[in-house]
Amino acid sequence: MANFLTRTKSIDLATTHAADKQLKPTLSWPHLIALGVGAIVGTGIYTLTGIAAALAGPGMIFSFLLCGVLVLTAALCYAEMATMVPASGSAFTYSYTALGETVAWIIGWALVLEYAVGAAAVAVGWSGHANEFLHWAHTSPSLPFHTPLLPDNLTTGLFASAPILDLVQGKAHVDMSKAFLDIPAMFIVLVVTGLLALGTRESATVNIVLVTIKLAALVMFVVIAAPYFDAHYLKPIAPMGWGATPHADGRNYGILGAAGLVFFAFYGFDAVSTAAEETKRPERDMTIGIVGSMFVCTIIYIGVAITALGAMYYTGWADDRIPLVTILKHLNSPQAATWLTVAVLVAVPTVILVLLYGQSRIFFVMSRDGLLPEGFSKVNPKTKTPIALTLGTGVLVALVAGTVPLADIGVLANAGTLAAFIAVALSVIVLRLKQPDRKRVFKTPLVWVTAPLCVVGCAYLFIVGLPHLTHMLFLVWGGIGLAFYLLYGAWRSKLARGEQG
Ligand code: ALA
Repeated sequence: MANFLTRTKSIDLATTHAADKQLKPTLSWPHLIALGVGAIVGTGIYTLTGIAAALAGPGMIFSFLLCGVLVLTAALCYAEMATMVPASGSAFTYSYTALGETVAWIIGWALVLEYAVGAAAVAVGWSGHANEFLHWAHTSPSLPFHTPLLPDNLTTGLFASAPILDLVQGKAHVDMSKAFLDIPAMFIVLVVTGLLALGTRESATVNIVLVTIKLAALVMFVVIAAPYFDAHYLKPIAPMGWGATPHADGRNYGILGAAGLVFFAFYGFDAVSTAAEETKRPERDMTIGIVGSMFVCTIIYIGVAITALGAMYYTGWADDRIPLVTILKHLNSPQAATWLTVAVLVAVPTVILVLLYGQSRIFFVMSRDGLLPEGFSKVNPKTKTPIALTLGTGVLVALVAGTVPLADIGVLANAGTLAAFIAVALSVIVLRLKQPDRKRVFKTPLVWVTAPLCVVGCAYLFIVGLPHLTHMLFLVWGGIGLAFYLLYGAWRSKLARGEQG
């Protein structure tokens, strides 16, 4: 027990569950790129672009670039760990084998922010587009019926009544007649939760269709908006500065501040690293898959951001929940605006599915290791899914999505993700030193540059880029997790009791 800080799980032990279920290697790099892009493209580009513009103006292009490079270093570290420890649990399992149980627990706890809070953020972005669709269907002469509209206070969460910092400090009060519950966001979380409980997984075929829809919508946006490009709109390039300056509204302005937010747009690539077992030539295909999907996403994001900034002066769509739709309407392309809205409604829920699935898997693995009560890993014999756990998580995520504004949830999800990325890069370094001879199917290229760059870059973005309130919430969340661990997990851990997890 006394060694709970340092006890680590051996890689062989961590991967024995997988041994009896060898998956067939059928995938090659085009599948992996599609898988990556499918899991990555979502609310980050369709919605957060508007908030990023408010934070950094045209300089948000550099925010996207910075995050693209940073996430690439993390993705390459993930790939080494995922191929060496092909067991579920992602950063939690990797840290358990390299950094010890206590750190692993904290990372598992932080992953809740990445997955559950991240899913809530994607749902809020989806909700903006759902609302736009309802408005269109309410007035469109091409429809034989008219849908009813939701009142404003049923499309906006109650913590959006005033800057959240003012609400926390009691300088402002929630006004339920203005903002109460974001019903569409709650609706989509609950629908996806229901599908997951029934045993729905991402399917490669459906994924290809949805990736095509998402990309087609963005290409359409660029094709329509690019001819209106006016370079004057990009000046000054950094009206809010290059750093991260805290404002009274609790947000960090400037290029680094916006990077702390748009970082959200890049994650989801775990989907690629966890497919390692099913890849025909992992060493080659994983590198191309990971670097390729990061490259494709970064190019798309920067392309869309430059086009948007050049087509309409950014103040016209800054802080908009549907920035790309607003720009298309401004350019007199209402039909394209409707198509883009529909594309988001159809294709973005898979991102929620992937995140909620990841969440239930993390709880499942932590429970199997004895760090969470056993009930968390109870699987329903019919659907083979942890139904109670899935439903419970879904309801909590729906409550967050229904009440907290997007910018605040987005940065909190990023805090958890940045912590996980740091842990994974550190795990790579520690295992290279401790177990240099262990077989590595995929090796992080230039590891002594890539991994330290990931650790330092993510730590810097965490400390400097994220708002003060996010730091506070992260500490509170971490404190609750640590207390739970010390009171429960540290004593019940199967590793400590010499049992197989
Ligand atoms: N990268 C995902 C998105 O932008 C989480 O929606």
